[in-house]
Amino acid sequence: MTHSAPKPPQDRLIVALDFPDAASALSLTERLGQTCRWVKVGLELFIAEGPKIVATLAGRGFNVFLDLKLHDIPNTVAGAVRTASAAGAKLLTLHASGGPAMLEAAAAAASGLSGPPQLLAVTVLTSMDLAQLNAVGVPDLPAAQVARLASVAWNSGIRGFVCSAEELASTRASFPESTLVIPGIRPAGAAIGDQKRVATPASAIAAGADFLVVGRPIAQATDPAAAAAAILDDIASATR
Ligand code: C5P
Repeated sequence: MTHSAPKPPQDRLIVALDFPDAASALSLTERLGQTCRWVKVGLELFIAEGPKIVATLAGRGFNVFLDLKLHDIPNTVAGAVRTASAAGAKLLTLHASGGPAMLEAAAAAASGLSGPPQLLAVTVLTSMDLAQLNAVGVPDLPAAQVARLASVAWNSGIRGFVCSAEELASTRASFPESTLVIPGIRPAGAAIGDQKRVATPASAIAAGADFLVVGRPIAQATDPAAAAAAILDDIASATR
C-alpha cells in the first residue's frame, strides 16, 4: 500500500462486530449509518452465523475483514482462503507461525482468485508475553519474535500485518509497503478495558497505520454513530 494519497477516514476505520449473533451485529451497523464502511467479523460471530454473515454484510455494502486467524496445514489454509474469498471477505487473517509453506500456499491461493481478500499475518498475539512464549518453546522476547515472524510472512508473499500500536513504528520501518491493521485503539479518555498496548486514532495513523480496528469504544457508546464520527475526526486530524 502506498502512502502518498491518504484514503478518506471512513476507509481506514474498521468496526469490530464482536457479537454472538447476526441481529446484534446488524443492529450496530444500522445505528452507525454512513460512519461505517468496514466491519470485522471475528470467531464469535462467524462460528454463530457462518459465511452467510459475511455475505449479508457485503450485500449491505460493507467491506468485511474476516478475522479467523487461520493456522493449519497448507492445503487446508489454501482452501479456506478460497472459501473466505467466495464469501466476500476483503481482508483475512492467518497466523505467521503456521510457517513459510502454509503462508506461501495461502498467498498462491489468493493470487489465483479474482478479487481475493488481502491476507494479513498475525505475528505474536498481544496476549502472549515472555512467559507465554517461553512456555511454547520460544526463548526470545515478543518483539524479536514479531520481527522474525513478520519477515517470514513477508518473504512468503504476505503483504499485510495485524500488530499493536507498540510494534507499529518498527513494522512500518521494516516493511514500508505493507498494509498495517492496528487494534487496541482508544480515543483519549476512553475506557481501556482489557487492552494493554493502546493508542489514540490520530497517533496510530500518524505512526503509519493503514486501518484501525475499534470495538467497544463504538459498540458500547451511548451513541455509537457519534463515537464513530469522533474517531473519524481524529483520523482526519492526523492525515491533514
Ligand atoms: O473492543 P476493542 O476495541 O478492544 O476490540 C478490538 C478488536 O480487535 C477485537 O475484535 C479483538 O479481538 C481484535 N484484536 C485485538 N488484538 C489483536 C488482534 C485482534 O484486540 N492483537
